[in-house]
Amino acid sequence: MEIGAWPTSQGVNDNYREIRRLGLESHVAELDTFGFTVVPPELAAPAGFADKLADAIWRHTKGTDSSIADYNSNQARAVDGEHLFHTVKRDPLFREATVSPAGYALASYILGSSLRIYQSSSILKAGKINPVFMHCDTLSVPPPLPPWGMVCNVTWVLSDYTRENGALFMVPGSHKLCRHPTLAEQPKCIGGQGSDDIVVPIIAKPGSLCVFHGNTWHGALPKTSDGTRVSYATIYCRSFVMPAEDFGDLTDEEIAPHGERFAKLAWRDKWQGYREEGPSSAKLALTRAAQENQFG
Ligand SMILES: [Fe+2]
Repeated sequence: MEIGAWPTSQGVNDNYREIRRLGLESHVAELDTFGFTVVPPELAAPAGFADKLADAIWRHTKGTDSSIADYNSNQARAVDGEHLFHTVKRDPLFREATVSPAGYALASYILGSSLRIYQSSSILKAGKINPVFMHCDTLSVPPPLPPWGMVCNVTWVLSDYTRENGALFMVPGSHKLCRHPTLAEQPKCIGGQGSDDIVVPIIAKPGSLCVFHGNTWHGALPKTSDGTRVSYATIYCRSFVMPAEDFGDLTDEEIAPHGERFAKLAWRDKWQGYREEGPSSAKLALTRAAQENQFG
């Protein structure tokens, strides 16, 4: 059917039309049903973009985390590997990735029109690396988690994801449980006592996008290969969530080439954070407008 300018669904009409234009309708269905989806490279971005993103990670990562000699005894990070944080400050390519149509459309579907960037980071895993414990990205929220997403993870797979390369894994349908996994549920394949039957590895080619709801249980398998695994993740959030990064250091010159979409993602129109002057009426009005369309 044709999507009209329907007033009762005005907050999602444009988003759904864009999802259809990008050929992503089946991915929306997978997100709704299973809590995650994998978008193939040909739908994720124009040819060559993922390679450029991977190159940028190599270029910027070199040396930044080099004080950590042994990633498997790395006490400084929750996840082992060489990290690059606050990437949107570091290179225009990372900013471009956050506004890239496919990932942005799917994150908008989960989070509504008020979405912002919560975190923009990459991890480079060289050699053998410990697994990542099973968790969901809706951090610091007590159960029951809301059934709607507070955050949405868009991970660019930039090297072959295989079991041996320490692929991400997902637990299908776990987004509907609206709670965090318990210690007892941690699967055996990552050193826990729970069942491995719930684990679905994300086997994917470089250039794929793995998109998942903030409630979806996930982790990473132990990396047993000698090669390198590269990934870039933008976690988006709703506008009332406190972001992991401070975007106040982004200059107008850095923001402008990526348009209004990036300015909003970088919290330029946030109404929170005022002092004695009180909140900006114009910025509050934007928030109210997003709320009035019922889809946030
Ligand atoms: Fe996570």
